[in-house]
Amino acid sequence: MNTKEEILTRLRQTEGYLSGEQLSETLGVSRAAVWKAITALRESGYAIDSATNRGYRLTASPDVLTPEEIRCGLHTRAIGKNIVALQEVDSTNEEAKRQAQCGAPDGSVFLAERQTGGKGRLGRTWESPAGTGIWFSVLLRPSLVPSEISSITLLAGIAVCRGIRSVTGCAAKLKWPNDVVIGSRKVCGILTEMAAEIERVEYVVLGIGINANTEAFPAKLAEKATSLRIEAGSAFPRAAILRAVLKELESLLLNAKAGSAFQEILDEYKFLCVSLNRRVGFFWNGEQQTGMAVDVSPSGELIVERDGGGRISINAGEVVV
Ligand code: BTN
Repeated sequence: MNTKEEILTRLRQTEGYLSGEQLSETLGVSRAAVWKAITALRESGYAIDSATNRGYRLTASPDVLTPEEIRCGLHTRAIGKNIVALQEVDSTNEEAKRQAQCGAPDGSVFLAERQTGGKGRLGRTWESPAGTGIWFSVLLRPSLVPSEISSITLLAGIAVCRGIRSVTGCAAKLKWPNDVVIGSRKVCGILTEMAAEIERVEYVVLGIGINANTEAFPAKLAEKATSLRIEAGSAFPRAAILRAVLKELESLLLNAKAGSAFQEILDEYKFLCVSLNRRVGFFWNGEQQTGMAVDVSPSGELIVERDGGGRISINAGEVVV
């Protein structure tokens, strides 16, 4: 943690005022360094009250996605240890892939206030305006073979649902494979990309876009998209949501690594999945077909009893519930 992060953490942990002297002693830095960090925090939008002979008190935090804000209270081992926060980027997935080639470590998080070329699944674009959304990518370097990567996609969906539920209370669920929905409308999309050889995954990029504080969507999107703010009726600190998702992601990844917990994770996915036990429409052999979604396989395929007869596994594409 740098001085700004340490000061922010201490101010958050303290009910009343914290003196400059206490801060400088506990952090082992000069009073001038404390003052410089306080000034920088104020410039980033933190309201820090200062009173003679008493010290500093945090009275309000801005809705910013800065590394110090995200890391404050994020007690993870790897995920989010390295955070790259940009004002603008083409796509955080593209940034993560560029940085992966330059050796960025496992668990690095790349985020941007605004994406100029946000990417969705199936070659679509992802609207990523500034200020209201959480657009980020997590770089993972798992010891897995390519066929095992779909399990990470399942985990990511669960992590987002858990994070959203814990911070906002919204009943986030999953539409197969991993659209996060509230009711019938999408609140978050996940785009997983990877670089791999036949037997070895070099890295995985989990790109996650959460419509957090969007007040309204253009008419053509409003039927299908929603935001946490629209659902809950109030705005949320985006850093708190991101932090919760990162924590859940790490905990799920560690559990999955232990192996024994994978069945529990799959059960949680199935519990959250709104596509299950529903009639679904899908493309199969170049034709639009319908059937009943009856199960999800351990590798994340949707198992469907086709109306035309026969049980099939769908592993990609769009399913209409
Ligand atoms: C979908 O189509 O549902 C997936 C959308 C994924 C959007 C996120 S936003 C952060 C990351 N960067 C991108 O360009 N896409 C993903």
